[in-house]
Amino acid sequence: PVVVVLFGGRSSEHSISSATAGGVLRAIDRERYRVIPVGITREGAFVLEEDDPDKFALDGATLPEVADNGTRIRWPESTATRELTVLDESGERSLGDIDVVLPILHGRFGEDGTVQGMLELIGLPYAGAGVLMSALGMDKHVTKSVLRSAGVPVVPWVSLTRADLARDREETERRIAALGLPVFVKPNRSGSSVGVTKVSAWEELEPALEVAFAEDSVVLVEQAVIGRELECGVLPGREGAPTRVSVAGEIVVSGRDFYDFEAKYLGAPGIDLVCPADLRDGELAEMQRIAARAFEALGGEGLARVDFFFTGTEFFVNEVNTMPGFTPISMFPRCWIASGMSYPELVSELIEDGLS
Ligand code: DAL
Ligand code: MG
Repeated sequence: PVVVVLFGGRSSEHSISSATAGGVLRAIDRERYRVIPVGITREGAFVLEEDDPDKFALDGATLPEVADNGTRIRWPESTATRELTVLDESGERSLGDIDVVLPILHGRFGEDGTVQGMLELIGLPYAGAGVLMSALGMDKHVTKSVLRSAGVPVVPWVSLTRADLARDREETERRIAALGLPVFVKPNRSGSSVGVTKVSAWEELEPALEVAFAEDSVVLVEQAVIGRELECGVLPGREGAPTRVSVAGEIVVSGRDFYDFEAKYLGAPGIDLVCPADLRDGELAEMQRIAARAFEALGGEGLARVDFFFTGTEFFVNEVNTMPGFTPISMFPRCWIASGMSYPELVSELIEDGLS
């Protein structure tokens, strides 16, 4: 099969997606798949990228980028064809028919159902969650609302817009104060902790809201759960079999406020990823049960990483990522590796799911 690996994108997680592409390009089974790497620049141009894992490596100091190399990808112009073409300085040439698109995009315009909608419209099979599940998963407020109505425990939160603050500041502040300190302030639709601040004193709230509003018009204020931070990977069952859930990984925070962007991707100290996490059998089973339920409540498609807080007695779902960080050192693949699936197998798993 011919696979388009689609990465980069217009969101603030452009570089993380590019780093994931580096891992995928390196690991993808070349005997089984022919790869066409398509990058999306920060401005939103679709370009034919180099098939070079090293170009998109995450080396701790710099973050990889999709640059505008002047080429332009032309998607099939109707559902009657699957031919991809590229326009470059020597004109337009065919890249052949494609079988499946692997959109390894994080954040808005990629993980949020927009790219999925485009692919549905032009009739191209793709890997990962569909339009609705992607859109739900990208929106933290909606995710929490859906999970809560499915009986999945979520952390108490308040969502607000600038209009809410302008209309009734006192009432909004009262609802936020009821959460108690500390709280996390987050843009509603972002990832990789971009725009997230931990607030431990109320005078820090206002600047934290400003930081979050710079990323999104809707902002969440969430109670900070005192406890451990655990995550696991979820995949749909094959051919009607039950949803599969990996073992748990843990983010151990020491001497750092929280698992922020610098710790995630720039190798800042103070964070250890431990996998498998030290949990009793009953605890792991409970976490896996909730993870499967959360995944299914949102649509049960593609893949997801479900993030938790664990108080020692109770699990709360923090969020569900429908295209989790997927570099070889990221938690999602690590959890599956610890569960017995290799990174190349995981990539094949996603592609085959997209093809079926
Ligand atoms: N949004 C990042 C990539 C993650 O959840 O892993
Ligand atoms: Mg996230």
